[in-house]
Amino acid sequence: MAQVTTVALKKMKASGEPITMLTAYDFPFAQMVDEAGVDIVLVGDSLGMVVLGYDSTLPVTQGDMLRHTAAVARGVERAMVVADMPFMTYQISPEQALENAGQLVKEAGAQAVKLEGGDPVLGTIRKIVDAGIPVMGHLGLTPQSIHQLGGYRVQGREKKAAERLKGEACALESAGCFSIVLEAIPSWLAKEVTESVSVPTIGIGAGPHCDGQVLVLHDVLGIFQEFKPKFVKRYTNLREGAVRALKEFVKEVREGEFPTAEYSYE
Ligand code: KIV
Repeated sequence: MAQVTTVALKKMKASGEPITMLTAYDFPFAQMVDEAGVDIVLVGDSLGMVVLGYDSTLPVTQGDMLRHTAAVARGVERAMVVADMPFMTYQISPEQALENAGQLVKEAGAQAVKLEGGDPVLGTIRKIVDAGIPVMGHLGLTPQSIHQLGGYRVQGREKKAAERLKGEACALESAGCFSIVLEAIPSWLAKEVTESVSVPTIGIGAGPHCDGQVLVLHDVLGIFQEFKPKFVKRYTNLREGAVRALKEFVKEVREGEFPTAEYSYE
């Protein structure tokens, strides 16, 4: 089973084969996502919201990402493992960003890193790429800038903002990004961006014209139910099934039905 590489992803764009990406944050779910045939496993800083219970991605630390990326890397055989660089681990200086990206690759086993933003991070991206670490860009709704954006809302609706986003996508490609996530932008804009760059675009809330699609695993499986953006499709409701099973355990213990002889030692 060949491992997914940046070269393979570029070929998929060229041949029109859709790229699949899902997040994972731990060993068992990484195994399941890989077994399902997903091409890229993103250890997203959405970790902060769907696993650690914060109300944004901002509190996520480098330590959190190292631990969870390492767990995911141990569970994946085929997919490419991409680790998100958390807030304030790449904004201060390109040197510090390179050190932190290097840690995610060297210590945690990521094959690439993802960071958010356009023009302000171009020099940083070049620095990381020059060191041999593939970088995935992220434009549109960039959750680490939530306070500046004024909420989780669709980006690039106005002509000026759309033009800026298109320019930034081309600049990210020139800086060396092997792929770009487009989050919460109109479908027509995602289509134009996808057609104007030679690297694959991966959409989340960006419509059907991207080269690939990504969703947050805990949304897809119905585990995270605090809120549901329009673009989220729940493919199952694991939360409901899990709570039902756990209630059954509580009931059986309380009523003396568990453990029976089958689950006990003589
Ligand atoms: O953190 C994350 O899960 C992400 C995806 C939404 C693309 O960045």
